[in-house]
Order: sequence, then C-alpha cells, then structure tokens
Amino acid sequence: MFTVRKRWRVPAGVEPTALDRKVMAFESRGVLVPKRSLIRTPEEIEGIRQSGVINTAILDLVGENIHAGMSTLEIDEMVHKYTIEHGAIPACLNYEGFPKSVCTSINEVVCHGIPSAKEILKEGDIINVDCTTILNGFYADASRMFIIGKTTPQKEKLVRVAKECLEIGMEAAKPWTCVGDIGNAIEKHAHKNGFSVVRDLCGHGVGVKFHDDPEVLHYGKKGVGMLLVPGMVFTIEPMINMGTWKVFIDSADGWTVVTEDELPSAQWEHTFLVTETGLEILTH
Ligand code: MF3
Ligand code: CO
Ligand code: CO
Repeated sequence: MFTVRKRWRVPAGVEPTALDRKVMAFESRGVLVPKRSLIRTPEEIEGIRQSGVINTAILDLVGENIHAGMSTLEIDEMVHKYTIEHGAIPACLNYEGFPKSVCTSINEVVCHGIPSAKEILKEGDIINVDCTTILNGFYADASRMFIIGKTTPQKEKLVRVAKECLEIGMEAAKPWTCVGDIGNAIEKHAHKNGFSVVRDLCGHGVGVKFHDDPEVLHYGKKGVGMLLVPGMVFTIEPMINMGTWKVFIDSADGWTVVTEDELPSAQWEHTFLVTETGLEILTH
C-alpha cells in the first residue's frame, strides 16, 4: 500500500517552527510546496557557497583564456585541471554518460555541447560554457556566454537579452510566491525583444544533488509551480533563441541540443538561495 501524506512533514519529536506552520498553511490551501528535505541547512548553504567560489573561479579562468583558434577540448582541459587542483570534482564528467568535464555550446547549439579537439572557436562565434562543480559533496552550477572577437549586432543582442532574462527572473523571485513567477517574467522579456524561450529544458534544484526539485520553467504563468521557501537552492538558466523555441538532439552523440531552425541560442545560469527577501547568488 502507498503511504498518503503531505509533502511538508515535520519529523516526529520536532517542534514545528514558524516557517513550518507557514508552509503547512499554504499546503492546506492546495499550493504545491517543497518537501521539507529541500530546505538546506546553514552548513549545507556554506558548503554550496564554497563550491560556488571554485565554480566562479573556473568560469573567470575560461573568460580570461578563451580565444579564436582554440578548441573546445582546450576549454575542457582547463576546467578539468583547475577543478581537480582545487580539490573539487567536475560534475558533468561521466554524468549519465556525458564524456567531458564541461558543456561547450556554440551558436545554434542550445546546451550540452561536448568539447572536442575538432571544434575550433572562430571570430564571431558565441559560446556558452556550462560548468558544475562538486566540492565536499556540494554542487554549484553556473554558465556564461562568451563572444569570440566581434560578432553581429543580432547575436550580441541575443547574448545581452539572455543575460537580462536571468537577472529579471532573479528579481521576480520572492519568498512565498511561486516558481512560475520567474518563468513568466523571463518569457515576457524575451518576447518583448523578439526572441523565444526553450521549453524542453529547465532550471532545477541543486546543491546536494545535481538535479533536484523544483523544476524551474523559463516560461509560463504567474502563480503556478512550487512555492518558494527560504532555504531552497535552485538554478535559473534561460535558453533564449533568435528564431523558434523548438530544439532537437543530435543523433551523432545523443547529447548536443540544437535549435530546429539552426539559428543561434544563448544561455546564462546561476545557482541561487531563497532568502527572506529574494534570491542570493551562490555562484559569483
Ligand atoms: N550543467 C547543466 C545544467 O545546467 C547540465 C549538464 S549535464 C551534462 O543543468 F551531462 F550534459 F553535463
Ligand atoms: Co549548468
Ligand atoms: Co543547471
């Protein structure tokens, strides 16, 4: 038989806190609340923050060294070396069979691009480097766009608007509102600028696992999705396309996600903590 119970369960013998009572009141009204285990302890938050320090240093290092003529495999080697030298583990390596330590996604590649010696960066490319770091068991996940030399005004705008989408999503997130408010704000900003939002991939809980609840859609309605409770940690990582939002997976490797119309895509990502007032970035 199944156990039928509420998601928010206060362990036996533990006196419910003011926060417990507040979440339980939302749950009684039919709001989707997180499991209580999604609330990170101060020690866990500190661990994720430390992992974030390494993660940020890795992306800074990539930013200082990325240039036309280098291969994406060289980016992978740089990420792997720095990660290991600092006592951390690259989360992507061997994750569900992913063969490298970082994702490198150029132009029409939306995400999950696999670094390769054969792939050489050229002037005008836009590339997303997505790095997840494990330090002492704690995960930090972030990605940035890099423009190689000079690119077209439209690609430059795409990179800028994708970054604004992340910032606007962050600002829309307040405790005791819903995850859907984030996606709603992101989608509005993308559409206002003539761009579309990828629907098949989303942000996610992170910190003690790579991918956890909640699901953070980058589109949709306000007031839907999981309640934001202080102590939750998740990513926002909007993928913004110049043309259609539709994507496919390249059968050549089973990983690379590409826009259906092969127009460019841009993405930025941070790991965030829900605080009493909003979101705090744990990856900068
Ligand atoms: N870092 C990606 C994310 O933002 C996930 C990459 S999974 C991999 O969730 F296997 F492709 F590395
Ligand atoms: Co990521
Ligand atoms: Co992520």
